[in-house]
Amino acid sequence: MAKFESYMYRCLQLAQLGEYYVAPNPMVGAVLVYDRPKLFSSEVPEKTELILGEGWHQQYGGPHAEPNCLRNAEATHPQGIDYKSCTLYVNLEPCSHYGKTPPCAELIIRKGIGRVVIGSLDPNPQVAGRGVKMMRDAGVDVIVGVLEEECRSLNRRFFCLHEHHRPYVILKWAQTADGFIDVVRTEGKPIVISTPLIKQLVHQQRAENMAIMVGTRTVLLDNPKLLTTHWSGHHPVRITLDRHNVIPLDSHIFSDDAPTIVYRENTNWSFILNDLATRNIHSVLVEGGATLLQHILDTGIYDEVHVEVSNQLLKSDSTSVIEGVPAPVYPKTTKPIMIDGHQIYVARHCVNKF
Ligand SMILES: NC(=O)c1ccc[n+]([C@@H]2O[C@H](COP(=O)([O-])OP(=O)(O)OC[C@H]3O[C@@H](n4cnc5c(N)ncnc54)[C@H](OP(=O)(O)O)[C@@H]3O)[C@@H](O)[C@H]2O)c1
Repeated sequence: MAKFESYMYRCLQLAQLGEYYVAPNPMVGAVLVYDRPKLFSSEVPEKTELILGEGWHQQYGGPHAEPNCLRNAEATHPQGIDYKSCTLYVNLEPCSHYGKTPPCAELIIRKGIGRVVIGSLDPNPQVAGRGVKMMRDAGVDVIVGVLEEECRSLNRRFFCLHEHHRPYVILKWAQTADGFIDVVRTEGKPIVISTPLIKQLVHQQRAENMAIMVGTRTVLLDNPKLLTTHWSGHHPVRITLDRHNVIPLDSHIFSDDAPTIVYRENTNWSFILNDLATRNIHSVLVEGGATLLQHILDTGIYDEVHVEVSNQLLKSDSTSVIEGVPAPVYPKTTKPIMIDGHQIYVARHCVNKF
């Protein structure tokens, strides 16, 4: 089992190379191992395993990890491969249907691969165990569930979309040490809470998620661009709410850089999540303000909370007349990590296990 796990960890490393490029598809990595050297050649010492090829899903709509891995193996072993004596490791069940590419389970059967070790089953109803059945029916030795938790966690956005028909929701905000996200104001600029490094990490988070959302007042007061300018990767789809049609059309959120969705008539959270799932959006990063974040926290329908707590106080003492926007109320059950002298709390919402 330890052997299976070490190759599965390698699959997860490879899978992650597709981050930023494959959404809403899952990140998948594959490793082909020649593991019956006795049958191979006298030059190879007994019990030596050889990695013959590696591959990962690189681009949405592009070839899956399995064909990429086999292509890599064949290119580097032109003398031919004894597939029957090989094990293919892959963190997600090989597909069984014709989508943008032909079924990977069929390719595995055609090549005559002896054994396939899988991290987790594919929740996509078009696959969901069919890939495993197809291979077993053809005589392939299939093992399922190696590092299953880690495999599901890597693709938690994908699993959430298919198992709960809603995007994976991450709530994120920055607050002062005394618990405010801004000063109360009707104009002017927001207070600076984040450091430049943490701002850059927020842009990394934006690239990891398919959509980003803010409330009406944040758009009106801050006029944010909501782009991924300080990290490589795509700009997320921008989402806001505008029940009273008050957001000016020349706001940055309507720039041509990325698509924007505005909910006007119905801003019910369950309705929004259902609508985003229908659009195949597998994740949304909610960046504020306090009213929208608190509303979502109160519904209980979210998956992660990321809070940055700076070391500055908005109010120097209890007599301060400065009025602040209180941060959402959230039980800090986790230990923070420190970045740039700020505390970063990251918590998974325990109700949802991916
Ligand atoms: N430090 C940070 O991390 C951070 C991040 C973002 C924003 N901010 C700051 O937060 C402040 C704005 O926060 P805010 O709490 O005043 O406003 P907000 O959360 O940005 O927007 C709230 C408004 O959105 C509208 N809305 C429509 N549907 C809603 C729904 N389902 N749930 C909640 N709201 C809905 C409501 O306006 P209607 O009733 O008019 O429809 C509501 O008053 C600004 O000062 C901004 O700079 C700080």
